[in-house]
Amino acid sequence: MDSPRKSIHGQWSSRLAFILAATGSAVGLGNIWKFPYIAGENGGGAFVLIYLVCIAVIGIPIMMAEVMIGRRGRQSPINTMRALATEAKTSRAWVLLGWAGVLAGFLILSYYSVIAGWALAYVFRTGSGLFTGLTADGVQSIFTTLVSDPERLLAWHTIFITMTMVVVARGVRGGLEKAVKFLMPALFVLLFVLVGFAWNSGSFEQGIEFLFQPDFSKLSANGILIAMGHAFFTLSLGMGAIMVYGSYLPSGASIAKVSIAVSIMDTLVALLAGMAIFPVVFANGLEPGAGPGLIFQTLPIAFGHMEYGAFFGMLFFVLLVFAAWSSAISLIEPAVAWLVENRGMNRVMASVVAGFVTWLFGLMTVFSFNLWSEVKPMSGFEVFKDSTVFDLLDYLTANIMLPAGGLLIAIFAGWKMSRASSVDELAMGDRFFYPLWRFLVRYITPVAVIIVFLNAIGIF
Ligand code: TRP
Repeated sequence: MDSPRKSIHGQWSSRLAFILAATGSAVGLGNIWKFPYIAGENGGGAFVLIYLVCIAVIGIPIMMAEVMIGRRGRQSPINTMRALATEAKTSRAWVLLGWAGVLAGFLILSYYSVIAGWALAYVFRTGSGLFTGLTADGVQSIFTTLVSDPERLLAWHTIFITMTMVVVARGVRGGLEKAVKFLMPALFVLLFVLVGFAWNSGSFEQGIEFLFQPDFSKLSANGILIAMGHAFFTLSLGMGAIMVYGSYLPSGASIAKVSIAVSIMDTLVALLAGMAIFPVVFANGLEPGAGPGLIFQTLPIAFGHMEYGAFFGMLFFVLLVFAAWSSAISLIEPAVAWLVENRGMNRVMASVVAGFVTWLFGLMTVFSFNLWSEVKPMSGFEVFKDSTVFDLLDYLTANIMLPAGGLLIAIFAGWKMSRASSVDELAMGDRFFYPLWRFLVRYITPVAVIIVFLNAIGIF
């Protein structure tokens, strides 16, 4: 039995197109900017191990659930949740999950865009040869100069939001789908080049040890929550992005296979980024826990000392911008799809509205690195004592909203939707893999998320 619904927004041209778009969404700043710096702040190996376990037992089953719900509903997450809740004869309150996702998308994109702006700025800084021969101190001061200037950050943020609006306005199947096909492999190759450089940095072993040798004494309960939150963030889960992409997926495609393919590619990119960065960190006596500026303070050292470094550096940041761009569009697609469905807007108008809201929220992050750098709104709590507004936004979205959204998605897919619907939509046969998935989303995933939450607030 095929699902009777059709999406008014169109469909991916093929299964491969979906994989590219979903990989485009998953692979982004999360892998290259965020993963290394949070792994560095949380002690390395043990954190990485927990993150990998979360990808496998929480991330992949939830990705399958999101794609499945999206394809069955074939509308924006808000309307999909309404339709499927009605179909399952359960509470209409499930639409709130769609709304929470839209809010999370705005909040995440608001800071994501500011960081993508840094990457844009670095295209020019590396390309002009500014880093050639510089020491760690010189590289660090260039970063500090950039982020302490609110006007510059605002300008780059505005440019990046505009870029995102343009692509979203033209529809997901336009240019970016094609571009991602070339850019993702190129990013891979360039990461290998960087790992090659790290290999010769003199501290390769130390970097690898830091990343892959678990030392659980360095991992706090809060660190475990951050690792789990990142598994959601990096796979674009918990807010409806993958759900809305799933709603454009052709009916015949195997949801399990595409989800696993996307997760593996995403994980590889993150690990490669870590392997490129930490050797450089140790070779130059830098701090692994340097925070959000980590890649901007380490990779330019590598580019500054390799042959054709200005060229490779520029290429790297161009690719990073593209990776961020193809992720950013998925963060407002749920909102845009809803505006088109329920407010009768065309995609252009919907993109402008969604882009403007995000741009406004983005000011909080712009100021967090300069005018408000001493504003620590939750300093009364030990874990948040040094957190800026940006840190709190990131924490709230990645570590609370996404896992909570994922938890509800798992409960909906495992307990509310009928078994017949999910058997039908996943089409994995009834032998081993379907029961395994169902067991994971019904029991393992929800329990794991709840335990990690309780653990982080010290109850468990
Ligand atoms: N996964 C992207 C990254 O790692 C970011 C992203 C895109 C995202 N869409 C999302 C994160 C939806 C959470 C939810 O850079």
